[in-house]
This record gives sequence, structure tokens and C-alpha cells, in this order.
Amino acid sequence: MGQLEHVDADRLRAWLPEVRSAEATAALMVAVAYDRGIGTAELASWYGRSEEWVEETVDALDSGRLVSTVARLEGVDVEAVAAESNLAPSTVRDWFDGLADEPVPEAADVVRRYAEGSVEPVRTGSPSTVYHLDHETLTERGWSLDDEGLFEKAAEADLDLPEYGRFLVEPDESILEAAERGGRSWPYACRGGACSNCAVVVVEGDVAMPGQSILSDEQIRETNARLSCVGVPITEEVKVVTGVGDTDAFADLRLPSPTDETGASD
Ligand code: FES
Repeated sequence: MGQLEHVDADRLRAWLPEVRSAEATAALMVAVAYDRGIGTAELASWYGRSEEWVEETVDALDSGRLVSTVARLEGVDVEAVAAESNLAPSTVRDWFDGLADEPVPEAADVVRRYAEGSVEPVRTGSPSTVYHLDHETLTERGWSLDDEGLFEKAAEADLDLPEYGRFLVEPDESILEAAERGGRSWPYACRGGACSNCAVVVVEGDVAMPGQSILSDEQIRETNARLSCVGVPITEEVKVVTGVGDTDAFADLRLPSPTDETGASD
């Protein structure tokens, strides 16, 4: 092993004040010292570890997976972040891995916020495009949620609003807010994640639901449903089937809603 090839030691040094665990601090200090030319045997004796540990630590930090490695050293519990944000663990894992190319201070900020217990919903930081298809239309046409290329079929069928369409969701908006800003009248009741009226099923992409309190983990896993009033896209593109809130799977969770009274629908 020579000098760190993929990681700037100054960035590691800048991250040092940010990390919390002794293990992560030791890992970063070893990498910085190694970059200055201190040998693995000497480092091993400084830190009371094996030379193998020093080599593995430097290798791990000197790779594209820097952030996820340090996140792991910091004790970030991917499963817990996923549960808190109502995301698949693989999404959170990808997210941490994706941070490997980000400036280190930003990544450290994410890890620190996690350590402080304030897991923020993951957002793309830029607008996301949401494609939507109405569930009743889907049923009338004999299509199914599991159909391959469901949205391609909808586009080819020349469907238009309100049954089918697309709109942009800004980073600080929920899907329902963006739909309404674009003139759509989607079902809702509580607007706070406590009923099923605004539910959509995610067919492609992913949506976080900070603060939702009604859907069980099992329901989310089995149906891939999200509540659009609190749902924020975390992928650049999301495809959702709307109007599923009063289907059998969610009927028990419905509340009386203003849209029931006006007869509005998506
Ligand atoms: S309107 Fe009740 S959860 Fe969205």
C-alpha cells in the first residue's frame, strides 16, 4: 500500500471533529497518519491493533465506499433509518453509498444528524417528476398493478387528465400539495398521515413518508402504498397509482373527507 489514492487526506482531517465514536475517530486518524508516511507496523503499535486492521481500515477509507464505511463505523443503523423514514433498507443503503462522492463535510452532517436522532426524510434536493394513473381507470381497462409496463400502456392508450398525467414535485412539497398546485383534486381527509384517503401505490421509484402513523410496516411492504399528503419523492422519477384509499386493502382506514362531499375525484 502507498499513499491514499482515492481520498484526499485533508478531507479526512476535516471530518475528524465531526465523528463521534472512538472507532471512527481512530480509523480516520490512522488513515491521515498513514498518508503522512507512517508505516502499518508503527500505526498498529500506536493504536494497539493488528497490522491487518490498519491495512483493512486504510483500504476501506481509501475507496468509493468511504461514506458508507464511516457511517457503519459511526454505528448508523441502516434498518433503523429505513424504518423511521418508511423506506426499504436497500434504498437507505444506496443512499449512504451514493454519498461516497459527496463532499465529506456534507456526509458528516448526515451522519451527525442521524447520531442526534433527527433523521430527516431523504430528498432528492431537486424537483421530482411524478407520473400518476387512476386506479379505477386501471381496473376498467382490465389492467393490474403488477402489469409490466403499466405506465407505458397508459401513455399509449392516450389517457389524459384526470386519469393519467405527470407533474413536478418541488423538494419542499408533498406529492398531494404538488398535485393540487397543478390543479388536480385528489382525495384526502386528515392531510397529516393518519388516514388512508390520499393513499397511492408506488409502481416505480420511491417515496418517503415522514410522520405517517396509520399504515403498518406490513401494509407498506405488501402493498407499496404511500400517503400522498406526507409523501415526498426520494427518486427523480416516481410512478404512482392514485385513488387506492378506498379499495378493500385500506377501506377500514378511511375518514369522511371534503372530497366525498364535493364529489371531486382524481
Ligand atoms: S389525507 Fe389522511 S393520510 Fe393523507
